[in-house]
This record gives sequence, C-alpha cells and structure tokens, in this order.
Amino acid sequence: MKFFLDSANLKEVEVLASWGVLDGITTNPSLLSKEGKIDPEKHLKAICKLVKGPVSMEVFSTEAAGMVAEGKRYAQWAKNVVVKVPMTPEGLKAVGLLRKAGIRVNVTLIFSANQALLAAKAGANFVSPFIGRLDENGEDGMTLVEEIRAIFDNYAFGTEILVASVRHPRQVTEVAMLGADICTMPFAVFEKLIHHPMTDLGLEKFLADWNKRKK
Ligand code: G3P
Repeated sequence: MKFFLDSANLKEVEVLASWGVLDGITTNPSLLSKEGKIDPEKHLKAICKLVKGPVSMEVFSTEAAGMVAEGKRYAQWAKNVVVKVPMTPEGLKAVGLLRKAGIRVNVTLIFSANQALLAAKAGANFVSPFIGRLDENGEDGMTLVEEIRAIFDNYAFGTEILVASVRHPRQVTEVAMLGADICTMPFAVFEKLIHHPMTDLGLEKFLADWNKRKK
C-alpha cells in the first residue's frame, strides 16, 4: 500500500520525504487555507519538487468547464500534479474531459460504493473515500473500503482506492488488510505509525545494558 501525506505544509512534506516512505501528497482547499497567504501555484510547485509521486490539487469551480480549465492550468505546474474534482454530476463530466486531455484525476468526497463505481466508470485514476467523516456520521468507513475493493476487483477497474480522512493508525492497518491501494493521512497519524512504547523501552534497555558493560 502506498502512503500519501494529507497536508499542504511544506515542513511536514520535507520531514516525511526524508523518511523515504512518502509516495505522494493530497491537498484540499481547507488544507491549503491553513497555510495562510500563499500563492497556490508557487506552493504546489514547491510541494511537487519535494515529492516525485502524485500531488493532488483540488479545483475550486463547481461547473465542469471551470473544473477542466483549472485542471489544465494545474497540470502545467508540474508533471506529478493530479487534479482533484468533487463527486458531483459536473465533477463526473470533468473527469472524462480531463482524462481525454491526458490529465490524471482524483475524485474526492466519496461516501458510497456507488459514487466510487461512477467515478471509476467515468475514468478516474483515483477515488477518495472519506472514512473518518463516515465513522463520525455513525456509518462505517471500513465497510465502504471493502465494498469498493470488491467492486473494482469484480470489473478489473484500474482506478486506485485512495483512502482519505484517516484519524488513527489502526485504520491504516485495516485498510492495508482490505487491499486499499493508497492511504493518505495527516502528519500526526504518520508519526504514530512509527512509535510503540515497547520499542522505546526495548531501546532504552539495550542502551542501558551496553553502558553498564565492564570497560
Ligand atoms: O484530503 C481529503 C481528506 O483526507 C480530508 O480529511 O480530515 O478533513 O476529514 P478530513
């Protein structure tokens, strides 16, 4: 399973890129707005320099023509830009048009298996099921991932399942077991993947034993 960082923060991107396990980046308007007064073009170009893999940049238009125009502009910023469009009728139209132009598309705000199926049929390269928000709404994000995996396998869709809205490390394990292609997560969740109290205690003991040796 590929690991993406769900952030537009350059420091976080830099740190994770240095760990050697970062396969891509997802951003959205909320994440970009957290970075304050930025020029989206300069900012995205800076992220794309730090990461070789796909970097999702979301459209702001709500009509297909506007989404396509924005997407074509983003695609000129860097080779690894992926255009993120919302799961709406206009978004679906935009998927086909952007794909015809040779631009990769990630369909976001996926909350049902039928939405994922529609996005795949339209030609999306990635679908982003939001599992944390579903759980918070009293539904089951993990079941959604399972359903999408089964449907994409049944019909041999090449569309990648990019699990989003991840809240904690256990979800990372579970979506990996379900065969998700990608898991995008915030920096805090990424950090938690590394740590285990027994690892820390084990290391402490090894070093203490070494320092106690007869010299
Ligand atoms: O980037 C899309 C998604 O991961 C957003 O997650 O935390 O806003 O539910 P969240």
